[in-house]
Amino acid sequence: MSQIQKLSARLANQIAAGEVVERPASVVKELLENALDAGGRKINVLIESGGVKRILVRDDGEGMSKDDLPLSLSRHATSKIQSLDDLEAVATLGFRGEALASISSVSRLLLSSKTENASQGWQVLAEGRDMDAKLSPVAHNRGSTVEVRDLFFNTPARRKFLKTEKTEFNHLEEVVKRQALGRFEVAFELSHNNKVIHNLRVAPGLRDKEQRVASLCGKPFMENSVQIDVEATGLKLWGWVALPTFSRSQADLQYFYVNGRVIRDRLVTHAIKQAYRDVLYHGRHPAYVLYLELDPALVDVNVHPTKHEVRFRDGRLVHDFIFRSLHKALADIRPEDVQLANENGEAMPFSALPENLQSMQPIKQIAEVEGVTMNPSYGPQSAMAFRQQASGVTPNSAVGATTQSFYGSSSGEVREPLSATGLLETYKSLHPEKGVGDEPYSEGDFPLGFAIAQLHGIYILSQNSSGLVLVDMHAAHERITYERMKTDFYRDGIQAQPLLVPISLAVSTKEAAVAEDCASELEKFGLLMERSGPESITIRQVPVILQNVDTDLLVRDLLSDMIEHGYSDQLEAKANELMSTMACHGSVRANRSLTIPEMNALLRDMEETERSGQCNHGRPTWTAMSLKELDKLFLRGR
Ligand SMILES: Nc1ncnc2c1ncn2[C@@H]1O[C@H](COP(=O)(O)OP(=O)(O)OP(=O)(O)O)[C@@H](O)[C@H]1O
Ligand SMILES: [Mg+2]
Repeated sequence: MSQIQKLSARLANQIAAGEVVERPASVVKELLENALDAGGRKINVLIESGGVKRILVRDDGEGMSKDDLPLSLSRHATSKIQSLDDLEAVATLGFRGEALASISSVSRLLLSSKTENASQGWQVLAEGRDMDAKLSPVAHNRGSTVEVRDLFFNTPARRKFLKTEKTEFNHLEEVVKRQALGRFEVAFELSHNNKVIHNLRVAPGLRDKEQRVASLCGKPFMENSVQIDVEATGLKLWGWVALPTFSRSQADLQYFYVNGRVIRDRLVTHAIKQAYRDVLYHGRHPAYVLYLELDPALVDVNVHPTKHEVRFRDGRLVHDFIFRSLHKALADIRPEDVQLANENGEAMPFSALPENLQSMQPIKQIAEVEGVTMNPSYGPQSAMAFRQQASGVTPNSAVGATTQSFYGSSSGEVREPLSATGLLETYKSLHPEKGVGDEPYSEGDFPLGFAIAQLHGIYILSQNSSGLVLVDMHAAHERITYERMKTDFYRDGIQAQPLLVPISLAVSTKEAAVAEDCASELEKFGLLMERSGPESITIRQVPVILQNVDTDLLVRDLLSDMIEHGYSDQLEAKANELMSTMACHGSVRANRSLTIPEMNALLRDMEETERSGQCNHGRPTWTAMSLKELDKLFLRGR
């Protein structure tokens, strides 16, 4: 007699449910996805007792016909794909045809629906046990309502894993939040135990979107972030990234969407982390809400049962694109962006970034050109090559030369202060490109204002058109020196040092193959290595700046990055780290008194320098207070 028996439909579904239905939040996720796939424009989510007792999701989408209703509850029944070809380019959130079957196997599920043309609605009840669906007529508008009661009533083991009502609701709210951030064209309402928690109207315009993001992610996030919108070779990335100074202790404010689907992906996280690397305080996490749009055929969503992970056909291209776009956006943040945010108490989006990758004009000017989208012509160049170029060939690196330190060279020495006969005059002569004819300069041209005094040998007190600014001199100078060193380093080409005794390294076959593949690319960076056997490589030359670091370790890290991410920034990272340390030691120390012109020169340099809002360790370099805030402090005008 055969030992093998077929599982009953119910048991098979319950096993499948183990993957999809973990807790009330997972039910809500599936139901919301269905409502969105059905084209719902208004979605209501009603929750009782953290979702354990009752979850109801109503949409005004296309609905289901009488015949489709019972079918929708059976396993592997879907209207969303029919062939493998469809799966390759799936644009809907669901496609497995498993969610409703799974949910109904572990709960009491009532599904009501009506299509546009049907004369009446129908409902079907499934109660876990037999998987038989009973049909009956019901009054319903176009769209569907799914009600899930008593989750896990027939699977006590699962019920035991549920947490408190509050915790379950928090998870569930997070799910709604994620969907609501992903679909601005849909209105959402969430209520818990008859109390409305979120009521979000459709958000067509930029302001509406920002309002929705602010109400879901908090106003401070919106106030401390910049908007980006970049498009290149079939990829589009837009959304909001927080200023580095608005970092978080946890990675809890990170939303990333790929074609409207919220995902958590190592490649994406890595690219973003890397873009923030130079500006984030150690151990802190960036905050962002970002949307990546690309041809659905270039991304595989069928990787994980909960569809949280995706696989990009060309991971390297995507990584590179995300990294470059964010790196650029972060480098371009200037004092004026932050200040505008402070003054009005609300964020000033810069919907436009410089047209040209190399231009380093102050954002203020560009922000005035509403609606211009950055559209750099990204070629298929490598990440490394790009970064070399991005950090190196800035025509405006002349900025570094023109404002050359009144407050000291990069070695920390103070030069003769320029005779301070009117700062504006001095500034004007240094920056002939900044003024046309006799057009007078005004304070408003200088976001960081003019220095008034030095406090305790540490801070510069400065006055600008809207209030006061405090600058941490050492932190600011450190960043400026560091950025300048990087510019010089990459512009002058990388100096390499042949090794007297080449280093031989035993590696895996895979590592050896990768080393062979990327040898020419690494050579551009000054590292010369070759495969010397099936499982060995020989290093013959290293970049001068890295000659004293542990080459073995560096190359091993580099190869493991290459294997995992398709490329590595270890060389650059190490070089940058060294420059950062040198910059730190070479910068103005606390308790050194600076003259007023020296201080002003530092302020002007900050306005011109990339990433000048944070020191090399990610700490803020300056802070501002508007007159309004000062007045408030002294209860003026009340
Ligand atoms: N709210 C809804 N409005 C209209 N049709 C729906 C709705 N919910 C489900 N359906 C129909 O029921 C089918 C089954 O839904 P189910 O969620 O089980 O599978 P799916 O969405 O196709 O795939 P997945 O398992 O990946 O979610 C869907 O393909 C769709 O045709
Ligand atoms: Mg579904």
